[in-house]
Order: sequence, then structure tokens, then C-alpha cells
Amino acid sequence: MNKKVIIGNFKMNLLPNEVVLYIENLKKDIESNNEIVLCVPYVDIPYASNIVNDTNIYVGAQNMYSREEGPYTGEISVKMLKSIKTDYVLLGHYERKLYFNETEEEINKKLILALKYNIKPIVCIGSNESLENEINMILKDIKKECINNIIFIYEPVFSIGTGNALDKNEIIDKIKLIQNIICEKYDEKFNNLTLGYGGSINSNNVLDIVNNDKINAILVGSSSLNEKEFANIINFSS
Ligand code: PGA
Repeated sequence: MNKKVIIGNFKMNLLPNEVVLYIENLKKDIESNNEIVLCVPYVDIPYASNIVNDTNIYVGAQNMYSREEGPYTGEISVKMLKSIKTDYVLLGHYERKLYFNETEEEINKKLILALKYNIKPIVCIGSNESLENEINMILKDIKKECINNIIFIYEPVFSIGTGNALDKNEIIDKIKLIQNIICEKYDEKFNNLTLGYGGSINSNNVLDIVNNDKINAILVGSSSLNEKEFANIINFSS
């Protein structure tokens, strides 16, 4: 199987000491050279990034603010993430749209900042009725040279947290569609895009989903919270 990016999204779960224990166990349990990204709560990031040196585990945030600095009480900036050694940032997750009314315009601003500060963006798409509109809005003013630095995850709303993962052939169709939309937008034949899927992935269905060369990344929510289950998902994806 070609190399994949396996992303865990802990959402609003796990305290710093729990994340440290999780990572120490994960290091022992994984037999994979895939890239593993743990998107942990903000407060866990410094603890996590301290103990992943010299491994294939990277630390990601689940969000950041769309401005560089200023009077935005309670927000976390890209520079703050950078200062605590955050490698990745998840942008545009459906739960942020659902509970915090996040818009594609905001996601686009965040994407521009993540690329500027060299934090690798993981962009979720699939919650707008038109994939084309959604992608065009999110990629507004993003230069062609940056496209290969972005991980695109297709996450259909009805698959997030429901136990109903999308059928593999449908995932592949959507991934091809996303690739075509991006290639047409830039009038460029991108051959190395990182495209993936998220929604109700677990250790029982992961092999079927990842066992093809179109899907090079997966985003795992609830099944990443159990360290042994996530280690199985990682090992089955290798
Ligand atoms: P799920 O969540 O794996 O629990 O469906 C996916 C996600 O929220 O990214």
C-alpha cells in the first residue's frame, strides 16, 4: 500500500496527562511508517509535541483564529500554535460550521495564514451542497504552488459520528471529483494531491477504505479516542 496520512481528531476529549499516556502507549503499539497526526485540544499540544520527537507521530490543532493577532478575546492565533510546535491544523471541520457558524470565507482566511506560517492544513470539505462552490471559496487567493501542501478530506455530513461510513466506491468517485475541481480551477494537472476521507472509520472498515491508491489520508474521530483501536486502524492501514 502507498504511504498514507492517518489523522486522529480527539475533539473536546482527553486532558494533558491522558494524552501523554495515550502517546506513550501508541508509540509501543504501532508498526507503521505512515504519517500519524493527532489533532488534540489546544491545551494538550505542548505536552504532546514534547514527546513525539523522532517518531512518525505529529501534533495538530483542531482550529485556529482567522486573524494574525489583535483584540479577539479567547481566540488562538497561528503564531501561538507555531510557538508550541504545532505541525498541522484542522480547518473547516463540520462541527465548527454546525456549532460556531464558521463560514467558508473564514476557513479561507485561516488557510492562508496556516500556509503563511508553514503549519500544514488539513481542510475538511463536503458539508456545502455544492462541492465546487465550497472548494472555490476555500481556495480563494491560494496560489497554485501551495496546493500540494494541503490535505483535503472529504467528510459527508451524514457519516460523521453516525457509524455509517460512505461506501468505498462513492468515496473514490467524490475524491476524483474533488481532484477534477481543483485541477480545473488552476488549469493544472496535479498528480500528487493529498486527498482523503473521514466519517465513521473504525478498525473493521478501514482496510476496505484505504486499500487503494486514490485515498491517501483518513480522518478518524470517535475511534481515535481509544488508543488500542486507533493503533489497530494505523496498523491495518500499512
Ligand atoms: P467520526 O468523526 O470518525 O466519529 O465519524 C469524524 C470526524 O469528526 O472527523
